[in-house]
Amino acid sequence: MANAIFRLENSWAPIEGDEGGGFVFTLVNLSDAPVSGFTLAYTSLTRVKDNPACENVRFIRRNANFHQFSPPDGFVLQPGASWQFSVKGLWRPARHRTDGAKSAYLTLADGAHVDVAVDDLMLSGRHSEPAPRLLPDGEAKEPFALLPFPADARLQAAETYPVALYPAEGTGLEDLKAMQAIGGLYRRLFSVAHAPFALGAVHEGKALTITADASLGKEAYTLDFGSDITLTYGDAAGRAYGLTALTQLLHGARLEPQKFSFPASGHIKDAPRYGWRGCHLDVSRQFYPVADVTRLIDIMAWLRLNIFHWHLTDDEAWRLEIKAYPTLTTLGVLRGPDEPMLPQLGNGAAPVGGFYTQEDVKAIVAHAASLHMEVVPEIDIPGHSTATLTALPHLIDGQEAPDSYRSVQGFPNNALNPAIEETYVFLGKVFDEMVELFPSKLLHIGGDEVAANTWMASPLAKKLMEKEGIEGTFGLQSHFMKRIQGMLAERGRKLAGWDEVSHGGGVDPAGTLLMAWQKPEIGIELAKQGYDVVMTPGQAYYLDMVQATEWQEPGASWAGTVPPHHTYTYEAVGEFPDELKPRMRGVQACIWSEHFLNRDYFNHLVFPRLGAIAEAAWTPKDKKDWLRFAAIAPLVPKL
Ligand code: ACM
Repeated sequence: MANAIFRLENSWAPIEGDEGGGFVFTLVNLSDAPVSGFTLAYTSLTRVKDNPACENVRFIRRNANFHQFSPPDGFVLQPGASWQFSVKGLWRPARHRTDGAKSAYLTLADGAHVDVAVDDLMLSGRHSEPAPRLLPDGEAKEPFALLPFPADARLQAAETYPVALYPAEGTGLEDLKAMQAIGGLYRRLFSVAHAPFALGAVHEGKALTITADASLGKEAYTLDFGSDITLTYGDAAGRAYGLTALTQLLHGARLEPQKFSFPASGHIKDAPRYGWRGCHLDVSRQFYPVADVTRLIDIMAWLRLNIFHWHLTDDEAWRLEIKAYPTLTTLGVLRGPDEPMLPQLGNGAAPVGGFYTQEDVKAIVAHAASLHMEVVPEIDIPGHSTATLTALPHLIDGQEAPDSYRSVQGFPNNALNPAIEETYVFLGKVFDEMVELFPSKLLHIGGDEVAANTWMASPLAKKLMEKEGIEGTFGLQSHFMKRIQGMLAERGRKLAGWDEVSHGGGVDPAGTLLMAWQKPEIGIELAKQGYDVVMTPGQAYYLDMVQATEWQEPGASWAGTVPPHHTYTYEAVGEFPDELKPRMRGVQACIWSEHFLNRDYFNHLVFPRLGAIAEAAWTPKDKKDWLRFAAIAPLVPKL
């Protein structure tokens, strides 16, 4: 905000006897005029409780991480002057510089809104450590820039590398197309680098023979290096992965010839450790334009990840165009001072929105499919539904007391009501449109973080519980989920969800896939219950988590501190008993975007850890090597 006329400083200090500590804010007037009769709003994930103890300020309201205050009566802030106030009574202590205000604005006496510049949260009363280095220099004893590293590679380094690889005489159309596809991927990711492939013979290039051998199996390939190169593949995905591996080898040798080489001779025999190698992106809290989504998919393909889990809806926004319910992507996306949904998570005076048209979705799904990647869409129900209920208020039980329960993120009454028949009419139409857009056999319906007393003040829910003999919030949740599972089955789809889908009786585990996020032990418990499991524990695979304990390192920390070394070395299959291992389908990175206000932040948090998860998903445990990874990871392209 180059020309801000107000700035809000914020600092946090510990307080004895109050674990949450307290904030001190200072508003500086950089304009040429005095200002009075205003209110100040800010967004902060470190929220205040209902009746915060404030000094020199009046608390007006809070909704999730939106907070609003006014100065004392009659207060005038002169040009160049500051107004300082303190706020105590926080839900949890701030731990990092990103735990303070993310945005702020003033509402002036005439109702106009003016952005206020904010920056890092400062630490008071304690030593503020700078962040350490997160990735060592690394050392690739085998000098080959492959990430993920193959299951089996026996290679001898060459002195030099070919100018480009080109198809041997007689190469068929599908193989040529595959070379073009991976050459295109490379060009999108590295727009200035030398082309890895040419489709005609190249002076000082090497000929590539491509052959199919279905006996290798799904996603598998082999490479033989000599005076020319042979790629053998089990299926089309294996062919793409073999071509990607060749491209990585050339890229490393060109870019860092002192560290990496192209093979002169030798053999690679490769196949993934897990069939599910996922990465999730939360596009609700922050919106990612189509170009960003396709680039993330390209980066995932470079890392041989094969599942894009697209978190399309949450409390803060519904991002998927549904033709039957157009208000979902008008009222259900706009956040602003005068919109039905208030600014959150870095929003200021200007309203923000953003959604994907069905044409956008088709293009993204096709792009992913061209890279052998499946898009698993998520609409997060029954909780996390503030945006939905804002867009479709007829889905609310009008007799339910407002603010009768709150989500862990502080949203009041944010769940779809299982006792309202219109809820199922709505979801049926949403599913009808989704199955036309997403070929995946799985539809992810969320199911996470329904607050413990949800629906308990809804007379309609009470009536349903009495009629059906259902107990409590999670009995109702299970009743709802079972109906949803049936609705998906009618449409030829299986249910995927977060681990809490299993609560209160859960659903039929047959064909159901749940993601263990709260802690690793939950994955084993779910597998025991008969669910298929993908491991995405926050403590290792949530890429919004901070990478070091120091205050000056940015990130969220509610699931702990997640250094790249931990993400890399973590073994998700860990304590799974042998008989349950087949239920563990794979691993997944999650990119929750509450804190992700800009691209540099995204890149700082997502890399190198996305590559670490890709290697955990692909490379056998005994072939993982932290120092090799550290040497190669800087070559991974960023968003
Ligand atoms: C989640 O992190 N609420 C799945």
